[in-house]
Amino acid sequence: MAIKREHWGSQIGFILAASGSAVGLGNIWKFPYVAGSNGGAAFVFIYIACIVLIGLPIILAEMVLGRKTQRNVVGAYRSLEKPTHSFIHYHRHFPNKEHPSQPYFPWFLAGGLGVISGFIILSFYSVVAGWTLAYIIEAASGTFTQFLDVDEAGAYFGEFVSKPVMPLLYHGLFMLASLGIVIKGIQNGIEKWNKILMPALFTILVLLLIRGLTLPGAQEGIAFFLKPDFSVVTWKTVLAALGQAFFTLSLGMGALITYGSYLSKKENIPHAAFMVVLFDTLVALVAGLAIFTAVFAMKLSPSAGPGLVFHTLPAVFNQMAGGYFFGILFFVLLFIAALTSSVSLLETIVAYFVDEKKWTRGKAVLLVGGIIFLTGIPASLSFGSLAGFKIALGKNYFDLLDHVVSNYFLPLGGLLIALFVGWSWGIKNAVAEIKNGNKNFPTANIWGFMIRYICPLAVAVILFAKFLGIDF
Ligand code: TRP
Repeated sequence: MAIKREHWGSQIGFILAASGSAVGLGNIWKFPYVAGSNGGAAFVFIYIACIVLIGLPIILAEMVLGRKTQRNVVGAYRSLEKPTHSFIHYHRHFPNKEHPSQPYFPWFLAGGLGVISGFIILSFYSVVAGWTLAYIIEAASGTFTQFLDVDEAGAYFGEFVSKPVMPLLYHGLFMLASLGIVIKGIQNGIEKWNKILMPALFTILVLLLIRGLTLPGAQEGIAFFLKPDFSVVTWKTVLAALGQAFFTLSLGMGALITYGSYLSKKENIPHAAFMVVLFDTLVALVAGLAIFTAVFAMKLSPSAGPGLVFHTLPAVFNQMAGGYFFGILFFVLLFIAALTSSVSLLETIVAYFVDEKKWTRGKAVLLVGGIIFLTGIPASLSFGSLAGFKIALGKNYFDLLDHVVSNYFLPLGGLLIALFVGWSWGIKNAVAEIKNGNKNFPTANIWGFMIRYICPLAVAVILFAKFLGIDF
């Protein structure tokens, strides 16, 4: 007998959980350095355009697909796809149906791509998340007071990540924390923890912003972040902004299909989608402001790249009044952001095994979590003993995983979701589903146009550009 699907306890619980998924290392670690090295405010401006024009429509599409089907990412596609005799597996899956004349596309494979993407992202994401845990402890034990400049802080970090044992221990601890939440299910696990952790995250962020804005010399950081200089914008800037928009909103692998599948018919999906996009963007902007005011006040460079948070900031905290306290807070913030995102990645995979393979939640969580711990090991060692070991494309294991998933799998997943909702399932059906919980959603609306034409076209352009090696 099928077990009744669990649902979110409240609309706000869902919004916090989906925001928890979206707000992650992408906002606080990646966004500031990508913005910093792509010209600051001009990048931010284009990024916001991508979020609104492409991110928001696809988020809505994912959530609606999830709620309609009440299934994991593979099951969602499978339950709505239109079969045909042109594929052998037709008879296996739909033994009693007539042969339809419509051309068939094996959409469930798009769901499979999502599950695989989740596995891959989580195995390197939790390695970086483990570092944030380590740095809470470093900050608390006063390590940052040794750092006289950024180079010293960078050298210390380089030493830490290149060792084999400690980073793996933290990666394992971080995975255990994620497993502990997901194993409890939707209401008692994911929803409950997001309701505690997300308000904590917002509070810490506001404290950090106040500290940043009150530093002498903060204006330069604000100007860098808010005054656009469009002369620095190139084609590459636009592509970087679009790629960042995808990652930060958790789009393209069905994380939000999965979270949407725990929605009941009375919830208002456009409202939830809008709130998630708003929170995610606010957090990225506020984190960027807090970080750049501090970096400029200490007369350091904003374009430090991926090391910005782990090299530059510890040195900044050492020079700042109250830096000991704010250093701890900052890494707690990063840890919370990473944890609520990693929970959504894990849940997306677990839901697949629970729905499709009929595993119990406990079995799925332990097995999937264990495998991700193991596949994370070479990702962690990529900063030490495996650093020189190039697997393909001149990249080590960690960089290769990140590159392939972020640059190809997620945009491809997003493209397929837009095409599926826009052209196969159909805007009419999707709008009928949206109207549950939002009666006033207009039947003729711009969203359908965006999903059918603009989103697929824009994403196809990024994919093609990446494929041609226009790198960013
Ligand atoms: N959005 C998260 C971040 O900004 C990462 C993340 C969580 C994610 N779930 C995802 C990215 C699903 C892509 C797909 O850090």
